[in-house]
Amino acid sequence: MEQSINTKCVQAGYTPKNGEPRQIPIIQSTTFKYDTSEDMGKLFDLEASGYFYTRLQNPTNDYVAAKIAALEGGTAAMLTSSGQAANFFAIFNICECGSHVVASSSIYGGTFNLISVTLKKMGIDVTFVSPDASEEELNAAFRDNTRAMFGETIANPALTVLDIEKFAKVAHAHNVPLIVDNTFPTPVNCRPIEWGADIVTHSTTKYMDGHGAAVGGVIVDSGKFDWMAHKDMYPGLTTPDESYHGITYAERFGKEGAFITKATAQLMRDLGCIQSPQNAFLLNLGLESLHVRMPRHVENGQAVAEFLETQSKVAKVSYPGLKSDKYHALAEKYLPNGGCGVVSFELKGGRTAAEKFMKNLKLAAIETHVADARTCCLNPATSTHRQLTDEQLEAAGISAGLVRMSCGLEDKNDLIADLKQALESI
Ligand SMILES: Cc1ncc(COP(=O)(O)O)c(C=O)c1O
Repeated sequence: MEQSINTKCVQAGYTPKNGEPRQIPIIQSTTFKYDTSEDMGKLFDLEASGYFYTRLQNPTNDYVAAKIAALEGGTAAMLTSSGQAANFFAIFNICECGSHVVASSSIYGGTFNLISVTLKKMGIDVTFVSPDASEEELNAAFRDNTRAMFGETIANPALTVLDIEKFAKVAHAHNVPLIVDNTFPTPVNCRPIEWGADIVTHSTTKYMDGHGAAVGGVIVDSGKFDWMAHKDMYPGLTTPDESYHGITYAERFGKEGAFITKATAQLMRDLGCIQSPQNAFLLNLGLESLHVRMPRHVENGQAVAEFLETQSKVAKVSYPGLKSDKYHALAEKYLPNGGCGVVSFELKGGRTAAEKFMKNLKLAAIETHVADARTCCLNPATSTHRQLTDEQLEAAGISAGLVRMSCGLEDKNDLIADLKQALESI
């Protein structure tokens, strides 16, 4: 019988045998010992499974990755050193110089930068589309060299909700996989693979860790995209990798395993952005209570959003759980149990009012972070998104006076009392 996601949060990924440690062991070792070169050779040829060097793979990471694959309903997963590395690997695993990506414009500033600046320098072009674009408009963004489509389930910090089914339908019509960054809702509140996404990524730094303890990322493969059916479009997966013993990943590992095996054998080998086993252990502690924490984050987010909506000094509140929110209908479809604890709102009086308000908050700290047990807030225009022009800010749905508040696990009445006194100060 398929277990509930609640049980998977606690138990999936690691099943100790008789007499083995109850908690996942931290394999704090860079390397692994073998009796013969032949034994090790089989690992290098990917003929046997096992470990040889932690830059590519480590057992602690694999326990945790297997848990996240189970949570998302994927066939394989890998942990990366950060969410940035996860999104970079997810795209770069199927794109190369000369490729093109279609991405929602409403995404995290760091990912926007990664795609529009760094990938561009590597010869990968991008067309940004509105998350509200019609099917026709989405279709028009595709080119012959488009190899990936990208969006965020709930965008940071604009809190737009991605119409995953629509994006997946258009991507698939062009024989391209849809990559969805599912950081904000986590698989507890939304599983994009069930709606047609092919690859799911996370900054595990956020709710999955949930305690502001360890930076990390994860990539999950749905195992559904048929690379071989579009052989000419994805040569990295469908033709021999001469840098890795001539292996053709899609042939040897099938739809279920090719993507993550290639990302491990090739990208981790060459770029080495692996999560430390120590961080993977901390991440797993967070995952064990993810299903208990997410409903409280949602409860607090909803209460704070409803309070802010009644305040005369607040110009606008974005929270998909609000009936008045532009994305409420999509939230009801994709996030029936709520989305996350992050609320974005605009204060009358712009940047100056936002700065004064945040300075006067006592419980909520100013941090470049979200999705922590402790409530925190940020003015994106002067911090995370300061590299964007005003036009790009507008396209990403961010105004200068926008405050992004990540509601933690405190009592909602204390959070509201803190907001009340800070609003009075402006
Ligand atoms: C939605 C989303 N994706 C990716 C990232 C990048 O993750 P990291 O900071 O772990 O590199 C973030 C960071 O805030 C994020 O919010």
